[in-house]
Order: sequence, then C-alpha cells, then structure tokens
Amino acid sequence: MKLTRRRFFAFLAGLPLIGLLSGISLRLAGKTLEPTPACDDHDEPTPPQTEGPYFTPNSPERSNLREKGLKGTVLVLTGQVLNTDCKPVSRALLDWWHCDDAGHYDNEGFTLRGHHFTDKLGNFRLETIVPGLYPGRTRHLHVKVQAPGKPILTTQLYFPDEPGNRRDGIFKPVLVMDVKQTASQMQAGYTFVLKA
Ligand SMILES: [Fe+2]
Repeated sequence: MKLTRRRFFAFLAGLPLIGLLSGISLRLAGKTLEPTPACDDHDEPTPPQTEGPYFTPNSPERSNLREKGLKGTVLVLTGQVLNTDCKPVSRALLDWWHCDDAGHYDNEGFTLRGHHFTDKLGNFRLETIVPGLYPGRTRHLHVKVQAPGKPILTTQLYFPDEPGNRRDGIFKPVLVMDVKQTASQMQAGYTFVLKA
C-alpha cells in the first residue's frame, strides 16, 4: 500500500508525543496559538461536480455579487487555492454562480454571477448572499476554479447542517464549507486543492 502523506501523518498522530506537538494548540508566553493547518489536510484534489444547467460564460469580474434590492443573508466566503504540492496558487480564476434567496437563477443577466482571481498567496474573498433552495437540490454554490494555464475544475460548495444534504445525490461532505453565523452575516471558509 502506498504510504500517502495523510496516512503517514495519521500514523504519526497515533504517537502521543508527536500528536502533542502537531495536533494541539501550543501555549506560549500566555497566548494560545492555533495549530498551523497541516499540509496533509489538503493533499487530495477538490473533487469535480456537475456544472448543472445554469452556467453562463463571460461573467463580470467582481468579488462582490451583492446588489441593491437583493434579499437574503450576507455570505462572506474566504479561502485559499492550493495545489496538491501544498503551494498557494496565485492568479487562480474563481468563477461563481448561484441562485437568489428565492431559489431562482438569473439566466438572462449576471445577477449573482461573477469571477475574480486569487492574490499572491492564493487567497480569495467573495461577498454574496446565502443562496436559497430550489426543488431537487440542497443549498449550494457553483464555482469554476482554474490555475493559470491549467484545466478548469468545475465543482459545488455546500453548507453544513442542511437537512437537504442527506437527500441530495450530488452532495459530498468534502465540499462542505466551514461556516460561522454571526448576528449580521454568515462567514464561510473553504480551501480548494488543484492538481499540481
Ligand atoms: Fe445549482
């Protein structure tokens, strides 16, 4: 059996001392430091998903899809694009589309559609609204992600604790965002991993 990085680190994590050093917050000078995300958490490429029927090419370049008159909870999604060598991918394209609060896609125009690029460290920030629901699907965002000169990854992102996740045949747990709900908005995080 091939010993992947994940399996190797899983093995190490079984050793008490290494587990203590790698997996637990370190208390240093009275401050608790969050553990550095391990590279081996991101060594599997993000899986592709169906594009579905509602993609429109040539979306406007923007990282804020909110517009006057759009109802719904504000969603701020931040994250990073890495490759399978754990290197950040700068200038990666992210092209988003999703339905509105009432579950409708804008198939004539570009409402709730837009593309932008990661910064030098592979980071991105999208501001939009939480998509509504439409028959047959759980709550989701559509996205195409592409490193410069590389193939396009078409996939979808999901929300945790959605009753529809269990009933949706396309849903994948690995595509669920980390989500935190504040009083005024939903904050979400996701790390995409592209084949190096
Ligand atoms: Fe959809």
